[in-house]
Amino acid sequence: MTATDQALRDLDTLEAEGITAFTSAGQPDALEAVRVEFLGMKQGRVKLAQEQLKSLDPAAKRVFGQRFNAVKTALEAAFEQAKLASSRPTQVVEGLDVTLPGRRSKLGHRHPLTQTADELIDIFGRLGFTVVRGPEVEDVHHNFDALNIPPTHPARDPADNFYITDRMMLRSQTSPVQIRVMENQPPPVRVIAIGRVYRPDAVDATHSFMFHQIEGLMVDTNVTMADLKSVLRLFARSYLGKDVKIRFRPSFFPFTEPSVEVDMLWHGGDRWVEMGGAGMVDPNVFKAVGYDPEKVTGFAFGLGIERLCMRRHGISDIRLLYQNDTRFLAQF
Ligand code: PHE
Repeated sequence: MTATDQALRDLDTLEAEGITAFTSAGQPDALEAVRVEFLGMKQGRVKLAQEQLKSLDPAAKRVFGQRFNAVKTALEAAFEQAKLASSRPTQVVEGLDVTLPGRRSKLGHRHPLTQTADELIDIFGRLGFTVVRGPEVEDVHHNFDALNIPPTHPARDPADNFYITDRMMLRSQTSPVQIRVMENQPPPVRVIAIGRVYRPDAVDATHSFMFHQIEGLMVDTNVTMADLKSVLRLFARSYLGKDVKIRFRPSFFPFTEPSVEVDMLWHGGDRWVEMGGAGMVDPNVFKAVGYDPEKVTGFAFGLGIERLCMRRHGISDIRLLYQNDTRFLAQF
């Protein structure tokens, strides 16, 4: 065998080995190693084969050169093809059966308290009440003064409120929203306000330091206590069911006169639980906002949303509503 024959045979081997190596490399880093071995600029096997050219005579050089170029092109093409393949996702995945039905992803839903609030907005909306909002960080004027709560009233006690400064606090009730509404519009008024209120109460099954209230206010000529009772009864029946039992107990609030507390019969029917307070707007409140108490009358109420939600769904502990345990929340 001549030296040229031998050199040509070496080229055949180089080509065959190179193509096998490129097609079986697979992963990008293995492929890179193969590239360096065959196509490396300094010590690659193609480069070394090219070195052999120099020692051949001109006739042999032509034959060898042609074959060399073909091998080099073939290996470069094999590399490019392998590179493309390695960047495509693997097409066969073990254990994947694309004919199986899909797995439904879990959908969240509104929190039960939000659902309750939305439903209350709906019910009162049908009774002609529109929704208003007020700030949770409230000033003492709106939370107490304008509501006819005297400076020495125990409701202002720092032990019973979250004061931020002397004049600012986290609102302890949604009643200040009544004031904000009347300050900004003349009568008639028919609004509800829903939101958080804060009181440093000891936490137990029916109390929390933060809870939600729905405040209602209706002001017009000739609004009476009978209207208040009708509206609250209608509301209770729509939200809690036709057979719900509620009662009104005489009570006292500085901003209503007369005042009542509204109770509902709790689950099982053996115990009355307070749903909130209500009454006819006190003339002093009308004066504080510039309404004429000789011309208009009105009623107001403030109900606890958590307790309504608990009564409706048979929830026995208010704390469940704040823990965000999906095993609990998924039931609503
Ligand atoms: N703001 C009172 C409370 O939080 C409830 C109430 C509202 C009473 C409106 C009368 C009128 O206890």
